Amino acid sequence: MDSLPGVAVVTGAARGIGAAIATAFVESGCRRLAITDILSSELTNLHQSLLTHFGSLGLTVFSLYGDITSESFIDEFITGAQATFGRIDYLVNVAGVSKPFNRSIDVPSSEFDFINNVNSRAAWLCSRAVLRVMLSQEPLPSPDSEQDTAATTTGPQGSSRWRRPPQRGSIVNVASQLGIVSRPGASAYCASKAAVIGMTRADAIDYSKDLIRVNCVCPGLVSTDMTTSSEGVVNEGLAGSVEIAPMGRMGDVREVADCVLFLSSWRASFVQGHAMVVDGGYVIN
Ligand SMILES: NC(=O)c1ccc[n+]([C@@H]2O[C@H](COP(=O)([O-])OP(=O)(O)OC[C@H]3O[C@@H](n4cnc5c(N)ncnc54)[C@H](O)[C@@H]3O)[C@@H](O)[C@H]2O)c1
Repeated sequence: MDSLPGVAVVTGAARGIGAAIATAFVESGCRRLAITDILSSELTNLHQSLLTHFGSLGLTVFSLYGDITSESFIDEFITGAQATFGRIDYLVNVAGVSKPFNRSIDVPSSEFDFINNVNSRAAWLCSRAVLRVMLSQEPLPSPDSEQDTAATTTGPQGSSRWRRPPQRGSIVNVASQLGIVSRPGASAYCASKAAVIGMTRADAIDYSKDLIRVNCVCPGLVSTDMTTSSEGVVNEGLAGSVEIAPMGRMGDVREVADCVLFLSSWRASFVQGHAMVVDGGYVIN
């Protein structure tokens, strides 16, 4: 079963978790990819690197840099992706920001707006633009051939001819463990990520009948520029936060990408509105 036969769109793809997700799609067989980010040169580097390694295998990449909080930019990007590939099957909303943590009384409203505009409003805008495309396209046919079905249904249950239903699209939003639990000084970020989880569930309900699945992942501490660079927001209190997770380590970007690919793929055909925690056990402790 080819689990990722369609067109993938990834925001926040220039570095960190987004770059890992874009790369994982291609490594897993996806051959039509659209990527965007506000970091122009890093985005170009990823585009070139993917073509260098997978161009001979038939990979086509559409990339456009810009600010994901701009509604007109999103329209331009999604229109460009649709014009290039004719359809969009997988959207992954990754673009996100954070700021050094402070209690609400010390956070200017401009900072609250900045975080929530990128993390939740822009994800909603991208989802809305892509849902319009998905609703206009024919679903991908079931990946289960008659042959596969015959081979797997001759057990004690008899030979019912079950096949996976077709899928018109999948959206995976990148939320956070901080959309589920909290930590000191993170009200703006927590609000933005809880909003992403709520949006995921609402869209999952609204588009189930259209054969569109909407899920999110909630990463714990993952080693990226957001967490470990000199401007990294949790750099100072990193050790204490890592210790809360029973596994006692930071995650790798590829471990988040693995979960996103599963949720995007046919293998998750009955997973809907789910907030998949990938955090080394942080939220259970
Ligand atoms: N790293 C972690 O520990 C962690 C944990 C939980 C959730 N997350 C979430 O994962 C996602 C990826 O984070 P990351 O750790 O890879 O951080 P990162 O800073 O390395 O990557 C974020 C990407 O989003 C892009 N971006 C930010 N604002 C943008 C805008 N206005 N327009 C277009 N692109 C924009 C950045 O340029 C960057 O490439 C974010 O949504 C983040 O909130 C990260």
